Amino acid sequence: MPLAQFLSLAQAIEPQHRYRTVYDADFSVLVPGKEHIDQDILDDFGRIDFAGRTVIDLGCNFGFFTFQARRQGAAAVTGVDREPRVLDGCRLLQRHFGLDNVGFACHDIDDPACSLLGRKFDIAMLVEFIGKTFIVENRVAPALAFLEKLSDRELIVSVQKIYWIRKELGTTPEALGRLYPERYIRGGDFLLLDYVRDFLAPRWRMEPISPMAEGYEKPRKFLRFVPAAGA
Ligand SMILES: C[S@@+](CC[C@H](N)C(=O)[O-])C[C@H]1O[C@@H](n2cnc3c(N)ncnc32)[C@H](O)[C@@H]1O
Repeated sequence: MPLAQFLSLAQAIEPQHRYRTVYDADFSVLVPGKEHIDQDILDDFGRIDFAGRTVIDLGCNFGFFTFQARRQGAAAVTGVDREPRVLDGCRLLQRHFGLDNVGFACHDIDDPACSLLGRKFDIAMLVEFIGKTFIVENRVAPALAFLEKLSDRELIVSVQKIYWIRKELGTTPEALGRLYPERYIRGGDFLLLDYVRDFLAPRWRMEPISPMAEGYEKPRKFLRFVPAAGA
């Protein structure tokens, strides 16, 4: 019953809010989305130690990583999104999966008065959230600043390492140079991973979770941040 309700709700939600393909517990596709889960993502995410931890998943969409963190042993996981109907879908999926200790809450992380800001979790996650629009609108720093207020122990962030400025961001190195220090603009590339690492660096030390090669790579990389020595 929850599954049938979920499927009809998902069909009624505008396509732009159906970001992530929704999978059943056996990974068969329930609702196709723009982005898929592949084995590399599962392997990377599977390296995160959630056992016994409390977790917050910001921008959870249909909760793929929220549910997955619980399946990987988290004590309690809260998925957060600003779209109430997407969260209704998450709650139906939760009933379908029969997963306890998973909750969903509606918050806008752009709201400076957001009530989440008084809370702490063992692990705060921002997965596949920071993308092209965030870079071009110079909103990466506020998103990271929000995230790091929610944990004193561990942050999980996934980002595409490098963006081609003209082809992928649809802007110019000169325009980005007015928003970011020039060390993050190398030729036609914007070095997002370096920017994220350096933004958090005084307080957090980055430990890459995903395998990483030199130079441009399209798949997003999972990064763990732990408190920096002396921070
Ligand atoms: C790109 S999707 C990422 C979904 C999910 N983390 C995943 O990887 O499957 C971003 C999600 O964040 C939500 N979102 C965007 N801006 C937000 C904000 N300011 N506060 C809370 N949620 C937001 C969107 O509604 C969307 O569901």
